[in-house]
Amino acid sequence: MSKFELKKIPQWQNLEKNYNEVKNLHLRDLFKDKNRFNEFSIRDTNIGITFDYSKNIITSDTFKLLMDFAKAARVNGWAKKMFLGEKINWTQKIPALHTALRNRSESPIYVDGNNVMPEINAVLAKMEKFSNDLRNGKWLGATGKKITDVVNIGIGGSDLGPRMVCEALRYYANDGPNIYFVSNIDVADMYNVLKKLKPENTLFIVASKTFTTTETITNALTARNWVTEKLGDKAVVNHFVALSTNTKKVSEFGIDKNNMFEFWDFVGGRYSLWSAIGLSIACFIGFDKFLELLDGAHYVDEHFLNAPYEENIPIIMAVLGIWYNNFFGASTHAVLPYSHYLHRFPAYLQQGDMESNGKTVNFEGDRVDYETGPIIWGEPGTNGQHSFYQFIHQGTKFIPCDFIGFIKPMQKVGDHHEKLMANYFAQTEALAFGLTKDQVVENLKEMGHSLNEIEILAPHQVYEGNKPTNSILIDSLTPKTLGALIALYEHKIFTQGIMWRVNSFDQWGVGLGKVLANVILPELKEQANNKHDSSTENLIKIFKANQK
Ligand code: F6P
Repeated sequence: MSKFELKKIPQWQNLEKNYNEVKNLHLRDLFKDKNRFNEFSIRDTNIGITFDYSKNIITSDTFKLLMDFAKAARVNGWAKKMFLGEKINWTQKIPALHTALRNRSESPIYVDGNNVMPEINAVLAKMEKFSNDLRNGKWLGATGKKITDVVNIGIGGSDLGPRMVCEALRYYANDGPNIYFVSNIDVADMYNVLKKLKPENTLFIVASKTFTTTETITNALTARNWVTEKLGDKAVVNHFVALSTNTKKVSEFGIDKNNMFEFWDFVGGRYSLWSAIGLSIACFIGFDKFLELLDGAHYVDEHFLNAPYEENIPIIMAVLGIWYNNFFGASTHAVLPYSHYLHRFPAYLQQGDMESNGKTVNFEGDRVDYETGPIIWGEPGTNGQHSFYQFIHQGTKFIPCDFIGFIKPMQKVGDHHEKLMANYFAQTEALAFGLTKDQVVENLKEMGHSLNEIEILAPHQVYEGNKPTNSILIDSLTPKTLGALIALYEHKIFTQGIMWRVNSFDQWGVGLGKVLANVILPELKEQANNKHDSSTENLIKIFKANQK
């Protein structure tokens, strides 16, 4: 196949030219246009989401050129392929059909000629029955006691999605069981959860697409011993269910086939919270609310497929990310939710984005000569303001940020919410417009500083501004709006992958470390010695020599 040179296509080159014109513009000047907010914002009243992207360093020309680039990449054509179940994850020869899991229209979707919707709906029905039975006390532990505590054992996509959603929707978990998540192979994770629980009242959900992941299987075995030591082997059937694509391995582990909730190869781990992997969510907040989450994502799926490029929120998020990543040289992107309920959202997105687009090889198998996925990071506001915001405001790194906020509070107590949101609005304003030297001098004069002091202090108090932000302002945090928010980011990631010409759905980069750990494990447990580099060999030697 001939080499495809993305940087040579006219759409890329036009953006490069535009960058040279725009890079010295300041948001202070761009905002002299009173129509700017109207031009660069979208309010969708059906779902209650406002997306304001006016505080980005773009002109109308830039926006048009970014859209031309997205159109040249045929984002919409690729989206259709994804939704129709084409095997767009070509290195694993599988489709990426997380959208089918929330296909609330229930129109047929075919994989290899089979409509997958009946299977998807059958698993949803099984999840509904199980979560209702568990919450109503019909599903009991081996000694006849009600299940009061549910522990999801999984890692990566089998942990981060459901964990984030359960945290985000904790407000709605009125009469459900307590929920815990164990992911780390470090036994401290399991230990700290088990010490609060009793086997009689605890249900373990073993979540693993492959059912071969070392962390999950090791933790599940520890949990099984904990249960059977007290309640006997027969208790496994009451206290363990599995979420997996691998029936054989689930049976080998000793979990009854009837207690297995299936999903399929066409669901990527990091896109799986909509599948059986969401069982912990359904148990925690109730199945009806789980369906509302799917509804919200489905709403955004329709938007992504049908809205014109210029009004398509995930596409706009994607091209703005590319604008900074590939033209301004930004290597990170901060996601800053002004809701404590969303405190796991940045961690969830790290896998969603970085495992998807952390790639160096393009569609043709060539090494790319441009940057692909950025580093995703963040913490909830206002905590982050007292930690790393200094760096964003006055550091030398250029960091585009997404600010996510909610109009209505979950709990109305005093003026907490107004204070939280005052900060949400203030930060994007400060980042965009900063504080000029003249303003600083004026302020210092008013405070009574001498001219000498002003000269010393002023440079440190200048905020250059011109730091770009998106504001995602959502009416309220509900299962539906959360589903929509997650899907917006999923499709942003997909769009960027298409535009960078990488496969966003494989993850070959996590394999090598697992293979090497399997080589090293016997060396730590027994007398085995394998050949390594001198650094690794000596570290292992010191570890073994000092273990006691
Ligand atoms: O870390 C790699 C990975 O394969 C992720 O993509 C996945 O979400 C995670 O491991 C867990 O895999 P599984 O669900 O098969 O246990």
